[in-house]
Amino acid sequence: MTCTDANLIEHAASVRERAYAPYSNFKVGAAIIDDKGNLHIGCNVENAAYPIGNCAEISAIASMIASGGSEIRKIAVVGGGETIEPCMPCGGCRQAIAEFSDDNTVVVIKNTDGSASSLTLNELLPHGFRLKS
Ligand code: THU
Repeated sequence: MTCTDANLIEHAASVRERAYAPYSNFKVGAAIIDDKGNLHIGCNVENAAYPIGNCAEISAIASMIASGGSEIRKIAVVGGGETIEPCMPCGGCRQAIAEFSDDNTVVVIKNTDGSASSLTLNELLPHGFRLKS
């Protein structure tokens, strides 16, 4: 599957609508294109016991792994309250993305004005922790 940044943002925005975020009212959607060109989506799923809630990126990564994908080529993240706001992946999600990424992995974020920004994972998580070199 070929997917432009705009397409991937659309998938993330679409799954964001299904987020379960009654506590923060901040819905997030994430969409991944993996090493085989397959699409995986996920949204945040909160819980009354706050710490066990899941971020959207974690949900999308779980979907990728369960479907047999192993590497993230590109991931789009779209989040916000009533309206879309620039939603940078949280620190934990940057580490989770790094687990399945390489130097060329791209993270695409939707801005408030509708435009998209893309960054490499290395820009988001320089000097990140890895067990493997
Ligand atoms: N959230 C994500 O889904 N991804 C992030 O990278 C940042 C935060 C979610 C977690 C929680 O459900 C809500 O946004 C507010 O923090």
